Amino acid sequence: MAAKIISFVTMKGGSGKSTSAMCLGAYWHKAGKKVALIDADPAGTLVRWIEAGEDLAQLSAATAGPGTVEKQIDASRKTGADFIIIDTPGFQSDATDAAIRQADLLLIPMRPSPIDYQVAADTAEHVARLSDAPVRFVLNQTTRGSVIARHMRAQMEAAGLQPMAVEFPARVAYGEAALAGTTPSYYQPRGAAAAEIAEFAAETVKLLSRRRTKARKAGKAV
Ligand SMILES: Nc1ncnc2c1ncn2[C@@H]1O[C@H](COP(=O)(O)OP(=O)(O)OP(=O)(O)O)[C@@H](O)[C@H]1O
Ligand SMILES: [Mg+2]
Repeated sequence: MAAKIISFVTMKGGSGKSTSAMCLGAYWHKAGKKVALIDADPAGTLVRWIEAGEDLAQLSAATAGPGTVEKQIDASRKTGADFIIIDTPGFQSDATDAAIRQADLLLIPMRPSPIDYQVAADTAEHVARLSDAPVRFVLNQTTRGSVIARHMRAQMEAAGLQPMAVEFPARVAYGEAALAGTTPSYYQPRGAAAAEIAEFAAETVKLLSRRRTKARKAGKAV
């Protein structure tokens, strides 16, 4: 099966792109899938994250910039990757646009606030101009039981935007794991964060397979 490409995008910094991208990649890596991370953020967050510890030492991560995202995707495909995960910077760039064009699934993480929502919605509009791949919002750093996350979901749905069912509550486990160069799936495999990451991965796979079924029905090569 051809590699599936998942790009994490939003022009809002600190929304959780790198965290959700790394947690997803590490989860699949631990499960024995072949994962290639492409770090298209000049800050190099994913590459530095991996270098900070041992758990992810075998997880492939390459940097890419404007003009080299496609090249990195080709190189990752040649290694037989099952999943190619692209992290992008929190600002508009040619590298982000390439990541959008190449993706089979676009994920827009956002914190539950009206300011973040506005930027996420603008990002979705930008994405729609470049791609017809499915787009999902991922609520990140939510507070359990708070009204705001529910309100954000309702606002998205009213605007025809689609949030994933899973959301990431704010948990210290994410930062603590990153400090040790790892993710909650390794750091606290029985913890709540690890369970959320597993749910996130399962929902992502479902979205990707839906796209394959749709493409097959439309008679396209998949
Ligand atoms: N669910 C969470 N719970 C607690 N902290 C989180 C969670 N998700 C992310 N964080 C923290 O929030 C900060 C921003 O997250 P992250 O770096 O993933 O965002 P980003 O969208 O990649 O930002 P940038 O656009 O600057 O690259 C980080 O310090 C990260 O550890
Ligand atoms: Mg980042």
